Formats: sequence, C-alpha cells, structure tokens
Amino acid sequence: MSEKISSHIIGLGYYAPENIIDNSYFSQFMDTSDQWIQERTGIQERRFVNKGQGPSDIAIPAVKIALKNANLSVNDIDFIIFSTSTPDYYIPGSGCLIQEKMNFPNIGALDIRCACTGFIYALSIADQYIKTKTYKNVLVISSEVQSTSMDLSNNGRDTAVIFADGAAAAILTANFDGEGILSTHLHTQGKYAKELWVESPSSAMSPKLDKNIIKSGKHFLKMNGREVFKHAVKRFPEVILEALNHNKLNIKDIDLLIPHQANIRISKMVQKKLELNDNQVFSNIHKYGNTTSASIPIALCEAINQKQLSKGDILVLAGFGSGFSWGSAILKW
Ligand code: UT7
Repeated sequence: MSEKISSHIIGLGYYAPENIIDNSYFSQFMDTSDQWIQERTGIQERRFVNKGQGPSDIAIPAVKIALKNANLSVNDIDFIIFSTSTPDYYIPGSGCLIQEKMNFPNIGALDIRCACTGFIYALSIADQYIKTKTYKNVLVISSEVQSTSMDLSNNGRDTAVIFADGAAAAILTANFDGEGILSTHLHTQGKYAKELWVESPSSAMSPKLDKNIIKSGKHFLKMNGREVFKHAVKRFPEVILEALNHNKLNIKDIDLLIPHQANIRISKMVQKKLELNDNQVFSNIHKYGNTTSASIPIALCEAINQKQLSKGDILVLAGFGSGFSWGSAILKW
C-alpha cells in the first residue's frame, strides 16, 4: 500500500517594516480622517518600507525566522515560490533576487503574481511538488511593497489609506500523518481585471512609460472599491464552502478562519454569512492594513504566536483580490 503524502507547514516567519504609519499621516496629503479610515476599513495603522527597500529585502528577516522555526538552513530548501504583485523589478523575478541575497544553492525560484490570493496559489503549487515527491522542502514567500504604488493625493485616497507593506514566509515539507494541506481551490475571473489594477508601465503600451502616462497617474494602483467589495463578500463564503464540502466538513468544524485582510467590514460580513463566532475568525488589519498576498501568512504567524491554533485544528485560509482571483486552502494543523 502506498503511503499518503500531504504537505505541512513546518516553519513560519513574518516581517513588518519598522516604519509605523498611523491614519493621521494621510491628512497632510488628502481629505481624509482617522474616523473615516477606521469606520470604513478597520485600519488604525500600517507599515511602510524605508526608501529603497523592495519585497526581496523585507522578505529576508521573514525567511530567516521561518528557517529557524523549521530548524533548517538555506541548503535544505529545494525550491522557492515568491508571491508578489509588487516585484522588485519586472525582470528578473524577486525569487532570483532572494536566492542571491540569502545564498541559497542554485535551486529553482518561481515568481507568482496572484495578488491577494497569492499565498493560497503558492501553497497549492508547493503542495503539488511535495505530493509528487519532486521536492522535499519548499519555501513560500509572500512579500509586498505597495506604498510606492500609492497616489498620495485626493485621487488616491480610496487606496492609499488601505494598502501597505509586509512580508511572510512559510516552509512546507512532506507529512505522512494526515496533517497539513487537505485541499486548495483556486478561481479567477479576468472580466474584472480593470477593477483593481496598475495599468502602467505596460508591455502593451509603446512606449511603456513616458511623461504623459505619469501625468495621468496610470502608474498608481487603481481600485473600484465598491465593485471589489461586492464580489469579495460573495466569493469568500462561496470558496470556503466549496473547500468544506470537498473535505466533507461543516462550518462548525472550522477552528480558525484566516481571511485575506482586505477590510474589517468584509471579514465581518463573511463571518455573519457563515454564522461563525468571533473566536473562529482572525483579524489583524487594524495593525497592518491590507498587505496583499502577505496578509494571510502574517495573520497566520500572529495567530500561532497568540496560541490560537492547536495540533489537529481545522484551519481555513481564504483570499480574494485583483484579477479577480480568489481561493481557499484547508489545513489540518
Ligand atoms: O485586497 C484586495 C481586495 N480589496 C478589497 O476587498 C477592498 C474592497 N473595497 C473596500 O474596502 C471599500 O470599498 C473601500 C474602503 C475602498 C471604500 O469604502 P466604501 O464604504 O465602499 O466607500 P465608497 O467607495 O462607497 O465611498 C464613500 C465615500 C465617497 O465619497 P462620496 O462620493 O460619497 O462623496 C468617497 O469619495 O467616501 C469617500 N472616500 C473617502 N473619504 C475619506 C473614499 N476614500 C476616502 C478616504 N477618506 N480615504
């Protein structure tokens, strides 16, 4: 009889840049207020990188902690998956940069750009490599520097106060005791690509970037917040139920749900729809804002630090964001 392999997280780490930005910071550039930001989003503060830091830089401390927690060294890692929608450069990927910066052996490094669902997509890829015995230890990194894509004028007030910087890393390895990832479910709907996007620099434009593009603000992240919100509150419950059904589990089996930290009102609506209690849904958006693909693993690190997960618990992760893309992962902790 062949042994059943699953992929389990054996080490986690996160890094929140030291530069704490509270809500009052934005009032010097745009018409906004601490009250509006807290009431509409739940965010009290967020972190921004120092000038010149890219996602591969802020990932380093997160990876170091994850390696330490897994009791592994860079030489034990077989493959890197780097999830970011804000890469250091267009070419090459941030995975190549971290391979060099942290002296990993010449292993493969794959960048993925699945926005706020990036960590779920990355877990699903790692899971396939581990289950097929291609790789033993896979490093997943989610790292984002959104602060440099923000329009700090009134035109950007619906995004600038929300998106922020942060990094997290997870190390996955083969497990033979039925622990770890039970399933991943992934979706996209490109029809809504332009509801949350950065239009330029774009390879579809010639020139890719010029003064007019910059003047028109096409290089800033743009979001149709109401439309994104509407889809998010539908897709989160849908993809969580899809995952539960697949595993023959019920809502009451969820020990902890960590949704992508997009907006506290979205999380509360999802909680209400699924009739989950406060202890079943994790939130830390008040401290970090929306850190795109880093938000789920940062929250997972904090949930563990706060002892909100015990061995054998059913953990549900769910993301929704640009693409639109959305997805869920269920893990037996
Ligand atoms: O991570 C990927 C997934 N992202 C999300 O899921 C985000 C989804 N969307 C949202 O979280 C919310 O739509 C926002 C927080 C972006 C906006 O909240 P809202 O309650 O949907 O506000 P709204 O867009 O309906 O705007 C209400 C008002 C508008 O003014 P008028 O037209 O009513 O006069 C906005 O111009 O609030 C205004 N507004 C602001 N006011 C003060 C927008 N941003 C701000 C601001 N400060 N920062």
